[in-house]
Amino acid sequence: MSQQPVQSCVFPVAGLGTRFLPATKAVPKEMLPVVDKPLIQYGVEEAEAAGLSRICFVNGRHKQAIENHFDRNVELEQSIAGSAKEGLLDGVNRLMDRCTFSSIRQLEARGLGHAIGCSEPAVGPAPFAVVLPDDLCVNPGGPSVLKQMVDLYQRYQCSIVAIEEVPQDQVDKYGVIAGTEEEPGVYRVSHMVEKPDPSEAPSNLAIIGRYILTPDIYALIGQTEPGKGGEIQITDALMKQAAAGKVIAYRFQGQRFDCGSVAGYVEATQYCYENLYR
Ligand code: G1P
Repeated sequence: MSQQPVQSCVFPVAGLGTRFLPATKAVPKEMLPVVDKPLIQYGVEEAEAAGLSRICFVNGRHKQAIENHFDRNVELEQSIAGSAKEGLLDGVNRLMDRCTFSSIRQLEARGLGHAIGCSEPAVGPAPFAVVLPDDLCVNPGGPSVLKQMVDLYQRYQCSIVAIEEVPQDQVDKYGVIAGTEEEPGVYRVSHMVEKPDPSEAPSNLAIIGRYILTPDIYALIGQTEPGKGGEIQITDALMKQAAAGKVIAYRFQGQRFDCGSVAGYVEATQYCYENLYR
């Protein structure tokens, strides 16, 4: 497989965020703040810290706030210039200096696999990362989850999914893998299934929202029929790579908060306030 470095990070952000209504009626769920920073910024910071500077949003109608967050706001900047508040934009300005941002529209909600497939014109024939910003990941004092995965990619040169153990009765919320552990925390995936019934799940190792994908995934997505929920699932496209032994599952170091649920969002807010806030 290709020896190219991973430089791009895709953020599928076209979803309607219906689990978080009414908050997400007019505001993209990715713009909800955890303490004082929108979720999407945590994800882009993680990508940048992993050395991925080409940021690609796969976006939908009515969600331009995401793109605007990583653009200049001259009127605002002028109004706070020279005041103590100026520094509040340092973090996002740093990302704007270091990264390029592109945006592609997903015209219809046809699933995560389809959304990732839409990114091909921006990413091109190179390995890339995918971050689902709902999953906020932290690893205080150590490398971020995406950095751990980019490092693992150097050694394995194949697609990688981040996994964590979840209670058996929760497996139907996730893609679930089966595989053999090749080194501590690293599994060669033999099987994966999207949101299985708990009685049929091959394990309780659930995929969370961090992926490294090799570019052949684009053709495989194109050949993938709608699956669970009538949507084109990335899990199904990845299963084709797994059948050839080309998918690794990685039990990451750190902690993940499911900010797509109210309980996880509150937990993340509390964690970030206590541990990361200035
Ligand atoms: C998606 C994927 C699923 C994965 C999950 C992680 O599901 O389809 O395989 O486990 O993200 O957050 P979604 O949560 O978008 O329904």
